Amino acid sequence: MTQTELSSQAQAEIGQARTLDELEAIRLKYLGRKGEITRQLMGLRDLDPSERKSVGAALNQAKGAIGEALEARKRTLQDAALDAALAAQAVDVTLPGRAEFAGSLHPLTLVRERIETIFAGAGFGVAEGPEIEDDFHNFEALNFPPEHPARAMHDTFWMADGQRLLRTHTSPVQIRVLRQAEPPVRIIAPGRVYRCDSDRTHSPMFNQIEGLYIDREVSFADLRHDLIAFLSAFFEREVALRLRPSYFPFTEPSAEFDIAFEGTGEWMEVGGCGMVHPNVLRATGVDPQAWRGYAFGLGIDRLAMLYYGIDDLRLFFDNDLRFLRQFAH
Ligand code: PHE
Repeated sequence: MTQTELSSQAQAEIGQARTLDELEAIRLKYLGRKGEITRQLMGLRDLDPSERKSVGAALNQAKGAIGEALEARKRTLQDAALDAALAAQAVDVTLPGRAEFAGSLHPLTLVRERIETIFAGAGFGVAEGPEIEDDFHNFEALNFPPEHPARAMHDTFWMADGQRLLRTHTSPVQIRVLRQAEPPVRIIAPGRVYRCDSDRTHSPMFNQIEGLYIDREVSFADLRHDLIAFLSAFFEREVALRLRPSYFPFTEPSAEFDIAFEGTGEWMEVGGCGMVHPNVLRATGVDPQAWRGYAFGLGIDRLAMLYYGIDDLRLFFDNDLRFLRQFAH
C-alpha cells in the first residue's frame, strides 16, 4: 500500500469514527508507537538511500494529513457532544409556571376569630390563662372540693409532680379574671384544653371558649338570650337552642346546651352553662350578695365541625395541607 493509499484509508476510518474512543483507537493504529506510519518511519533506515528521501517525504506528509484529520474529527465530535448536552439541559421557557401557595389561617383560628368578633360586638373582652394549671384554679376555686366525684369526670392529665395539670377546661380563667378585676366583668376566654380521650369526636387536646358575665342584675334569661343571639350570628341562620338540666360544681343551676338547625330535627351538644355558683364568687373575693352572673363553655372544634360540615374532629389536628388549603381565601 502506498503512503497515499494508507493516508486515505486512515482518513476514511477517521470520518467514520463516532466516538472519541474510536478516534483514539484509530490514532494508535496509525500514529501510535506501534502504529503503521511509525513502523514505516522506523523502517526508513533499511531503505536504499536513493529511495529514503522520497519515501520519507511521503510518510511525513501522510503523518501530517492523518494528524490534521484526527484533530478535525475530534473537534467535530466534541462540538456534537456539547450540543447534545446543551439540548438535554435546555429550559423550556414556554412551560406554564408552578403556582405558589400562600399560607392561610387554620380553620380553628378562623372560627375562633369569628367568635371573638361576635362577642366583641356585645361588649365582651378576651381573657387568657395558662394551659398548665394547678389544682386550685382548675378545681378547688371552681367549687370542686377534694375527693369530689365530679373531678373524676375530667380525665385529667397530671404532671409528674402530682401538683400541676393540663387544664381540663377554660373555666380556670374565670377564677384568674375574677381575682384581679372588679365587677362588672364581661369576657370570653378561648384556648386549648386537655383530657385523656380520643375518638372521632374527641381529641386529647381540644379548644373551648369560656364566657363570663358578672353584674348586679344577670339572670338565666340573659344567658339563654345571649347564647341564642351568639349562635344565630355565628351560623348566620336561625338556630334552635335546647337547654338540658345538668350539673357543674361551679354553676347553679346548670345546663348543657344543644343546637339544631331549622328543619333537621337533629340536636347537637355544643357546651355547658349556668349561673355562677356563690362559692366561686366567694373564692375570688366577689360579694355574692351584690353580684351575680352567668358562665358558659363551648367547644370551638364542635362549632367549627358544624360550621364547615366536617364529621371527623381529627382532621383539624392532622395538619394535612390538602385539607387546610381549602380554608384559604
Ligand atoms: N367547664 C365546663 C366543661 O368543660 C363547661 C362549663 C363552663 C359549664 C362554664 C358551665 C359554665 O365541661
